[in-house]
Amino acid sequence: MPIDPGGPLAPTGPMETFTKSFTRQEPIPEAGIAAAVEVMRSGKLHRYGADPSHVAALEEEFAAQTGAAHCLAVASGGYAMGAALRALGVGPGDPVLTNGWTLAPVPGAIAAVGARPVLVEVTDRLVIDLGDLAAKAGQARVLMLSHMRGHLADMERLMEICDAADIAVIEDCAHTMGAAWAGRASGRWGKIGCYSCQTYKHVNSGEGGLIVTDDADLAARMILLSGSYMIYARNGTAPSEEVFARHKGMMPNVSGRMDELRAAILRPQLADLPRQVERWNTRYRALEDGLRSATGLRVIDRPNAETYVGSSIQVVANDPDRVPGFVAACADRGVEWKWFGAPQAIGFTSAHRHWGYVAAQDLPRTDAVLAGLLDMRVPLTFDLNDCALICRVVTDEAARHLG
Ligand SMILES: Cc1ncc(COP(=O)(O)O)c(C=O)c1O
Repeated sequence: MPIDPGGPLAPTGPMETFTKSFTRQEPIPEAGIAAAVEVMRSGKLHRYGADPSHVAALEEEFAAQTGAAHCLAVASGGYAMGAALRALGVGPGDPVLTNGWTLAPVPGAIAAVGARPVLVEVTDRLVIDLGDLAAKAGQARVLMLSHMRGHLADMERLMEICDAADIAVIEDCAHTMGAAWAGRASGRWGKIGCYSCQTYKHVNSGEGGLIVTDDADLAARMILLSGSYMIYARNGTAPSEEVFARHKGMMPNVSGRMDELRAAILRPQLADLPRQVERWNTRYRALEDGLRSATGLRVIDRPNAETYVGSSIQVVANDPDRVPGFVAACADRGVEWKWFGAPQAIGFTSAHRHWGYVAAQDLPRTDAVLAGLLDMRVPLTFDLNDCALICRVVTDEAARHLG
C-alpha cells in the first residue's frame, strides 16, 4: 500500500542538534598568559611577595574602573561576601536579609559566619521583592542583596527602604560585573560590592573575587582580615595609617587575599570588559528575540533603567509539570537548561528548600516563579549562528512539549 506522504507518519527530516559545550570559556588573553608566565618565572606568587605587585595594581585599576575609593582582591566571591559581613560586624545568630532565589554561596557566606539568612521573596522579574523587603526590614540590620543572574531591582527604591530602616547593603555582583541601574554601576549602591572572578563569571581567574567600598574603615577591616599581617599598606588602595590604627589587632587574620598569578591573568581581562559586555549582549539579544515567540515560555522583561550583561538567559515555563519532558528533549538535542523547580539540587542549581543549613521559610511567590524557571549559560564561545540554532531547537521542542 502506498504511504501517504502528507500523513501523520510523514518524515520531518533530520532533527537539528547543537553540539557546542555550554561550559567552554574563551582562552585567557595572550597578555594575561604572558604576565602569568613572567610571575611564575619570578617565583613571587604570594599575595605580598612581589614589588611592584599585580595584586596591588589590580586593586587600583578596579577601584578606578568602578569609581570606588577602595578595592581588595581576594580568593573568591564567597570569601568577598564573608569578609564584607565580618567587616560590618555580623556574627553568630545575627539575622541577615537575602534573596529567596540565588545560588548557594550567598546563603552559604551568611551561614559561614554563623549568621541566620532571612529570605526575601523574589518577583516574576527575578529580583528581590521590594514589598516583602519593606515588610521584613525591621528584622535585620544587613541585606546581602544578590543581583542573581544579572537582574537588577529598582535600586533607587531599594536604597530608600534600606536607608529608612538603617540597613547596610552588601551587593553580590557575581553576575553583574559591568552592569548598572539608572547609569550607576552595580556594586556602587550599597556599602560594599562583592564580585566573583571564577571561571563562569565575567572575568576568569579560575577562582577569585573583588570587593569595593568607599568606606575607609570597612576597607581597613577587610584588608586586615584578608591576611595582611603588618604590611597592609601594600594594598593598592589602602586607607591611611590612622584608619588602620582603629582596627589593628581587632580583626582576626583569615588569609584570603588574591595571589599574583590570578591578578596577572585578570588585569587585561578587566581592561577588556566593556567590549566583552557588548559581545555578551549581542548574543543575549539574539536569544531573547528568538525565544520570545516560543510556545509556553516567557522571557524576562528588562527595564530601561537596567544596563545588563547577558552572560546567561532565563525563561519561565507556563506549565511547570511539563518542564521535565521539555528539558530532557532539549538536552537530547544538545541544548542545556538548568531548572530551578527540580525536586533535587543538580549541578550548581539549587533552591532555598535544598539549603538544609538555612531554617525553612515560607516563600510562596518565589516558589511559584521557581517552579517554571529555566536558566541557560551564554558563553562567548557561541556565535550568532549558534544562538539561532539554539532558538530553533528550543522553539521546536517547546511546541512539542509545552504547547
Ligand atoms: C550569585 C552568586 N554569588 C556568589 C557566588 C560566589 O562566587 P565564588 O564562586 O567566586 O565564590 C556565585 C558563584 O557561583 C554566585 O553564582
